[in-house]
Amino acid sequence: MTVLVTGGAGFIGSNFVYHMLKKYPDYKIICVDCLTYAGNLSTLEKALENPNFVFLKTDICDREEIYKIFDEHKPDIVVNFAAESHVDRSIENPEVFLKTNILGTQVLMDACRKYGITRYHQVSTDEVYGDLPLDRPDMFFTEETPLHTSSPYSASKASADLLVLAYYRTYNLPITISRCSNNYGPYHFPEKLIPLMIANALADKPLPVYGKGENVRDWLYVEDHCEAIDLIIHKGKAGEVYNVGGHNEMKNIDIVKLICKKLDKPESLITFVTDRKGHDLRYAIDPAKINKELGWLPKTKFSDGIEKTIKWYLNNKQWWETIISGEYRDYYDKMYRNR
Ligand code: NAD
Ligand code: TYD
Repeated sequence: MTVLVTGGAGFIGSNFVYHMLKKYPDYKIICVDCLTYAGNLSTLEKALENPNFVFLKTDICDREEIYKIFDEHKPDIVVNFAAESHVDRSIENPEVFLKTNILGTQVLMDACRKYGITRYHQVSTDEVYGDLPLDRPDMFFTEETPLHTSSPYSASKASADLLVLAYYRTYNLPITISRCSNNYGPYHFPEKLIPLMIANALADKPLPVYGKGENVRDWLYVEDHCEAIDLIIHKGKAGEVYNVGGHNEMKNIDIVKLICKKLDKPESLITFVTDRKGHDLRYAIDPAKINKELGWLPKTKFSDGIEKTIKWYLNNKQWWETIISGEYRDYYDKMYRNR
């Protein structure tokens, strides 16, 4: 079995590569990633020692190169993680989000049609459903919740989802889609909430909380997401959408306070800054379908997952210190200096 994983040098894709290499030692894993600011080859250092792993530096929008890769490696399954993934960056510059997230998806599915595959899996997000009110804890996103996006990021992901469903209906391409809640864990790029707060707290820098910190996210440990995708590509039904999330809702401010406590840092580091434009209030997934049909349930409790994550950032300082010392520093200055 050959599995082509796009975006495998990013946060979730790399965790998925390691998950697959460990669980299926006889599978060949081909990773396609063009190494944007969010992709890091050092993340795949250990995978590169495995003879069943191949890394190809290619843009998923490059039709010619993608067709060549399909022609040579003949993947059975394609899992598309490659995307521009950061909401704040999409607010600054939407264009690349439309290109990679929509047109890149189209190129990959065209290659799947041309060369034939048993499954194309699109890694999507709960953000395609928009947000839920803070005062209705009884409301959750189901697979039937209408798409209702807020940011250029979520709009691009929803557009891709519609295209994927259109390729199923029109061309009978055997697709599946997973819509997952916020992930956390090792190799999370330090521009996102949890790793950013860990890195800043360790450096005794201000912890910039948007608005009042009341926004709620539904956090899932990344390995649980990888297991869900593994189940869907092997046992999920073509044409179906599966929501993935673990009923673990937390307010941003509570996460930041917890990180301060775990790192023994004062809450006085917390700084409330100007809110994100169009900031989604609450995300909350109802995972009943994937639980009932595929038996998936998250295995990692948040208290254990956050402990493991903090430990990982403490033990792998070189990985993230290299990132925040480079081009990222200009991004940070631009986004936070006068906020
Ligand atoms: P990430 O930004 O950490 O990684 C994205 C990877 O894609 C990077 O390695 C980057 O180099 C690569 N990439 C970007 N554009 C590319 C292109 N044109 N061609 C080839 N490679 C390209 O993102 P992530 O957090 O790992 O998210 C992976 C996927 O999961 C995305 O599709 C995202 O929408 C989805 N998702 C993320 C979360 C989350 O909490 N992070 C939750 C739900 C869904
Ligand atoms: P983020 O990690 O960017 O994920 P997403 O926007 O996809 O949910 O942000 C998670 C939450 O944390 C979101 O409500 C915005 C908030 N946030 C802050 O308060 N401060 C920050 O510096 C960042 C990056 C995010």
